[in-house]
Amino acid sequence: MRLLEREEPLALLATAARAAAAGRGGVVLVTGEPGIGKTALVGALAGRLAGGRVLTGQCDDLTTPRPFGALRDVARAVGGPLAEVLADGSAPAAVHDGLLAELAGPAPTVLVLEDVHWADDATVDAVRTLGRRVPALPAVLVLTYRDGELDGGAPLRRALAALPPRAVTRVPLAPLSRAAVAELVGAGADRVHALTGGNPFLVTELAAEGTDGLPPSVRDAVAGRVAALAPDARALVELVSVVPARTGTDVLDAALPGWEAAAAEPERTGLLLVEPGAVAFRHELARTAVAGTLTAADRRRLHTTVFAALQRLGADPADLVHHAEAAGDATALAAAALPAARGAAAAGANREALAHYRRALPLAGSLPGAERAALYEELAGVAYLTGRIPEALAAVDAAAAAHRATGDGRGLGRCARVRSRLLWYAGDGAAAEREARAAVALLEPLGESAELARACSVVGQLAMLAGRSEEALTESARAADMALRAGDRATHAHALVNTGKVRATRDPDDTATIEQAFAAADGAGDPHEAVRALVCRAWSELLWVRPGPARRTAERALAYAAEHEVDALREYTEVTLAWLDARAGDWAGAERVARAQLERGVTVNQILAKTVLAEVAVRRGDDDAAARLADVAAQSWATAEMQRIEPVLELQVEHALLHGTPMPVDRVRQVDALARATDWAGWGGVRMAAWAAVAGCPVESCVRAAPPHRAVLDGDWRAAADAFGAVGWSYDRALCLSALDDPAALAEALETARALGAAPLAARVTRRLRALGLPVRHGRRETTRAHPAGLTARQEEVLRLLAEGLTNAEIATRLVVSPRTAEHHVTAVLGRLGVRGRREAIRRAGELGLLRG
Ligand SMILES: Nc1ncnc2c1ncn2[C@@H]1O[C@H](COP(=O)(O)OP(=O)(O)OP(=O)(O)O)[C@@H](O)[C@H]1O
Ligand SMILES: [Mg+2]
Repeated sequence: MRLLEREEPLALLATAARAAAAGRGGVVLVTGEPGIGKTALVGALAGRLAGGRVLTGQCDDLTTPRPFGALRDVARAVGGPLAEVLADGSAPAAVHDGLLAELAGPAPTVLVLEDVHWADDATVDAVRTLGRRVPALPAVLVLTYRDGELDGGAPLRRALAALPPRAVTRVPLAPLSRAAVAELVGAGADRVHALTGGNPFLVTELAAEGTDGLPPSVRDAVAGRVAALAPDARALVELVSVVPARTGTDVLDAALPGWEAAAAEPERTGLLLVEPGAVAFRHELARTAVAGTLTAADRRRLHTTVFAALQRLGADPADLVHHAEAAGDATALAAAALPAARGAAAAGANREALAHYRRALPLAGSLPGAERAALYEELAGVAYLTGRIPEALAAVDAAAAAHRATGDGRGLGRCARVRSRLLWYAGDGAAAEREARAAVALLEPLGESAELARACSVVGQLAMLAGRSEEALTESARAADMALRAGDRATHAHALVNTGKVRATRDPDDTATIEQAFAAADGAGDPHEAVRALVCRAWSELLWVRPGPARRTAERALAYAAEHEVDALREYTEVTLAWLDARAGDWAGAERVARAQLERGVTVNQILAKTVLAEVAVRRGDDDAAARLADVAAQSWATAEMQRIEPVLELQVEHALLHGTPMPVDRVRQVDALARATDWAGWGGVRMAAWAAVAGCPVESCVRAAPPHRAVLDGDWRAAADAFGAVGWSYDRALCLSALDDPAALAEALETARALGAAPLAARVTRRLRALGLPVRHGRRETTRAHPAGLTARQEEVLRLLAEGLTNAEIATRLVVSPRTAEHHVTAVLGRLGVRGRREAIRRAGELGLLRG
């Protein structure tokens, strides 16, 4: 075992030993809470001494200690007169003399007496005598003890006070730092550090047992300490154990009058911390351990007690929920859950709010209609934000039923509008459109209102998504005006996002409105719309083939979404970034992120994930590429949105091109007809036209185009290759080069395809070379990737941060990405380097010379 962060204490001990060797003996007091590392420290001592011997005696925790217990260990080791006087039961003075004779030299001695808080009276007397005499001996007396276990009047305390002050060195041991914890446990260091407070025993036990459960050794150690407490102290400790983090003294005053006296013992022994306003366990792990020893009946009783106290004190509803639930009191739970849900939702803690709303549901039946509807609508809102679409749909239906019963038309309109968004999110474009129009139809007769403004804005949003730009602009402008009149700043921001998205879709440089929309949404306290603004901008940049800006904007969106728990859009943004990773050549990383989305039901997130997975499959030449393509083509078609349909169409054309199979001409015509039914004027028309040209069925196109697509449309494959290459999309570049007859271009395409593992493209280039009568160079076994370990630029950056010792959370902050994304990057780096842990990664990176320069 390596002893961490104990250089200073070891140096103090070594100094004392050197002085002893020179004839100036002394006493060293090694102190600290249980498990702080006293034994480990003195155990390391022998290896650090220049000469002399170490003798050790152990004091035991016995109800009836044996006299001179610790000294008997020493006598066993040295034999001689000391052993004799101890064996024949001589008077204490004879034992003291034997001990002093043993330590008189000539060789210097370090005498360690361990755990002297348990020392029997005879040993304490021996310590007193030895302490007085040791300055003149070539010896160091090292005493280890848990200072918390000595009360003021203990005989040992008095013996220590009587030691000659100049001869005493105090070595109180400190908990391990976060960095040392990281060294012991690797991943998850933050959590382990928080749970254990850096206590080495707790840390090493967690490291050995896995950091999730409670190691039996810890449970036993803590249970042992609790069992030793007086009954009133134990009652206090058990009560405190059922309250997360810390128990307010007001709660204790109410629940356990007279608790202060009972707190003295557990405070002294370091189990509890008693602070001015609260009592807490010193280690969270100890709290879990104590709570784990309670019987189910005790646990319920204690939670009921705490609940009653909290209720009397008018405590935070979230705390009431916790204890009502654990007390098994369903009625109290439902009643406390609703205010808790509202508090969490107002604070933007959407996942927590969702959990509370679910707990409040049993209450719904007994609420008056309007309140019942409100409960369901609020539940639908947080369920949507956290990405639970079926649950949100069920809730919105229940809310609508309540509104119908009370004849609340405005409420019904609002529900239709929410349902529209949910259906859109589930990938059903037509149904979303229908519900949005139903919402307007319900609200319009009731006159102008914030609800009507929002419904109009949703109609504008869907028009924008469907490519009916003029309608989108008109509806959104109308909605924005109405929202301003109604004083609804969030809806105003919503409408601005629509307008901004239309503008950015038409012209990638026209981002002023979308940024204005972001600021408006942020200012109005509507994080969902703020994130939507950024996501819209990122998508325009992506589809206009500007990956650098797209990544920057998407990372802003991700950070904002993560901070405000807008999970639905956070996940969407994560997949968007994965798509950018795929284009930059990190197929495996993109695949991992996208796959994680597939488990969450059909949503636009999933359609996007499937698009990314289909792209990787097509380009890598997976067996299931065609099947994936067909599946996502059908799902994207159901959205009726160009931004979902068109990228899949491009892939279908690419797939046919790679394999020399028939072009998807019918699909091209279908998509063209869809585009033509709108007044689309953005990246979509041109990309369509470009790939339609490749498919051999030219369609009309509009003017503005991103450089690579303009070049494809013009049949200028070299310019297209250069344009893709300029933004770092090397596969796309190689694909374009593969259309040229130039031997150098084909050679480059082949090399890139092989390096990326793009088998179909490599095969296509090989076919073309053969057809042109050109030689096909054999691929080298070693790939010629720029990076020796095949890391992307991003992964290399992450590796550097790992080497700096940053945690995932710190890496996330540094790179302005979500902790999840940082985690993905770290996992990818470990995978690429073929190592299991961070330290191994850093070592391996050093061996490969990856961290130079
Ligand atoms: N500095 C350290 N670096 C790494 N591990 C340590 C360090 N100190 C202690 N440990 C580990 O922590 C555990 C507990 O340490 P140790 O037994 O020395 O505590 P202690 O203070 O003697 O506790 P007690 O009061 O119960 O006797 C041991 O497994 C030890 O290996
Ligand atoms: Mg010990």
